[in-house]
Amino acid sequence: MDAIISDIHSNVVALKAVLADIEKFACRRIICLGDIIGYGPWPLDCVDFAMGFSLTVLGNHEDAVLFEPVGFNLRAEEAITWSRSQLNNRAVPVELRRARWNFLGDLPRKKQEGDILYVHGTPREPTREYLFPKDIVDKERIETLFKTFEHIVFSGHTHIAGIFTPEGYINPPVDRRIDLDGFEKVIVNVGAVGQPRDNDWRASYVLFDGRFVVYRRVEYDIQKVVDEIKANPHLDNYLAERLMKGM
Ligand SMILES: [Fe+2]
Repeated sequence: MDAIISDIHSNVVALKAVLADIEKFACRRIICLGDIIGYGPWPLDCVDFAMGFSLTVLGNHEDAVLFEPVGFNLRAEEAITWSRSQLNNRAVPVELRRARWNFLGDLPRKKQEGDILYVHGTPREPTREYLFPKDIVDKERIETLFKTFEHIVFSGHTHIAGIFTPEGYINPPVDRRIDLDGFEKVIVNVGAVGQPRDNDWRASYVLFDGRFVVYRRVEYDIQKVVDEIKANPHLDNYLAERLMKGM
């Protein structure tokens, strides 16, 4: 069994709650689909946890902190600038600073394992392209997209947990086994750990045994995160409000 998580976004309280939940299921690996950082108040703690995962792919927020936050709104850009300053903090021993930057710099944009592909965005544009539930009605786009992979894609990026098939979109039930071999092709969005936007503030992730996927939602001390964001002058208060609303 693997646990597949995404979009932690510097929310270490949500991440710790998810890791505690994962421990109940004797998972072989933890796979992270990117956006470890951005938006939240604990970028370094989250990077340190990610360094211990079996696999992490590059998210657009890692890309932004490594290069430039192209196409980001002002709030997201400010959070990236602050996260970069944390990673460059001279009070931190140089070896640790380098290890964190090297880890981020070495993240692959995608990872293929047999007929399973792990990306942050979509199979054809692994880091930046969004695939929202509403996009399922765009038959031409879906058809083109589904030609670019073999069987199963795991993705994040939209912060909306859900399953895309050529036949339609599935709003996945929590804690129910879904047989992915029942689909010829399928894109599984695992949702977000640290900033869900599907009107449910609880952290989202999936368990996967090579065939069946199970969606989990995990409660955490959200007030602690809200207070920490509001106390940080570099993070916009709106980021705390959206966290509570799950949007
Ligand atoms: Fe994200």
